[in-house]
Amino acid sequence: MLRLLASQAATSLENTRLYRELEQRETKIRRLVDANIIGIFIWDFEGHVLEANDAFLRIVDYDREDLMAGRLRWMDLTPPEWLARDLSQWIPQHKVTGRLEPFEKEYFRKDGSRVPVLIGVATFEAGGNEGVAFVLDLTERKKAEHRLRESYEMLRELTSRRETAREEERKHIAREMHDDLGQHLTALRMRASMLAVQFGKDLPALAEQAQALTALVDNTMRVVRGVIASLRPAALDAGIGAALEWLAAEFNRNPRTVCRLRVQDENLVLNEDRAIVLFRVVQEALTNVARHAAASQVTITLERTPDSCVLEVRDDGQGFDPLATRKRSFGLAGMEERVLMLGGRIVVVSSPGNGCAIIVHLPLFHETGDATDMIYT
Ligand SMILES: Nc1ncnc2c1ncn2[C@@H]1O[C@H](COP(=O)(O)OP(=O)(O)OP(=O)(O)O)[C@@H](O)[C@H]1O
Ligand SMILES: [Mg+2]
Repeated sequence: MLRLLASQAATSLENTRLYRELEQRETKIRRLVDANIIGIFIWDFEGHVLEANDAFLRIVDYDREDLMAGRLRWMDLTPPEWLARDLSQWIPQHKVTGRLEPFEKEYFRKDGSRVPVLIGVATFEAGGNEGVAFVLDLTERKKAEHRLRESYEMLRELTSRRETAREEERKHIAREMHDDLGQHLTALRMRASMLAVQFGKDLPALAEQAQALTALVDNTMRVVRGVIASLRPAALDAGIGAALEWLAAEFNRNPRTVCRLRVQDENLVLNEDRAIVLFRVVQEALTNVARHAAASQVTITLERTPDSCVLEVRDDGQGFDPLATRKRSFGLAGMEERVLMLGGRIVVVSSPGNGCAIIVHLPLFHETGDATDMIYT
């Protein structure tokens, strides 16, 4: 009898301890829910919201009365296009796995506006009909993303305008130099020659000076021609093939690296914008090869597909890690902007010790500015 009583007392003590533990655990969970750091609600597969904390009610802008009266159904809160995905994709998957990794969706607020949320869900028990959902309001994050996207687009637009303006300016300066400066230098040279012819016989010292002057003018004309060519090579007027040949020939003045050029279709005609972009990309790529690559060979290839042209500048130099230099690089970034402006794609393939290849795909029939990102591998 005594033993029975003792055993009953022990059981009752154990029960009290278990009860207290349960109570403590529940208090902790309640505290978690009521802290309202994140929206939490309890749901069933029929679409009901059975319980919800204040944070969730705030997100969807309903009050507790709506919840108590059963007016809160997650299926009604979900806009049709999201509900279709919930029903066809998430719920079947959820019924198998018992949980869903956080995913983004939208809910209707009480006033009919939409709130973007991140939601993660789990059922209470395998095969059960009820579960818990954790919901994070993404409104501020979405706004920030939108602002960031807008300023990125703005930056792209500005860069694009700047590049166009620079190209126009170059063209203008080249024309002015050619027409004005060129003519003046020619006139100067003629007058110096006339001086020598007219007075050279009687004044040998003047003839000498006139000759020196002519030589000086000749030098200046060469410099001016060089500057005009680098501003906007006349070769571009003869087509992209000729322009690339000019670049390769210029590059080959440097004996350290051999530059080869392979143009599949010598008669390829590109509009001015595309020709200038390809020209500038090759110009910058060759400058980089000369400055950074320590290569023995660089090959420029230009091919045409039915709807695009593909340019490649490949060197066998020391290579580099494109991801590591991305932030500081203006040459590569400039190439990217020019190519993106015309709806093209540019890939930089390089790694230390393995040379570098820059590959550009330029659509031939691109109208608008839909751009893709530069790919670094
Ligand atoms: N062909 C190449 N071979 C080896 N390293 C290269 C090559 N091209 C670029 N790099 C590396 O990538 C970096 C970025 O190149 P990028 O052209 O953007 O800038 P930069 O040449 O240093 O300066 P700039 O703004 O005057 O062009 C270079 O500093 C160089 O380290
Ligand atoms: Mg550079």
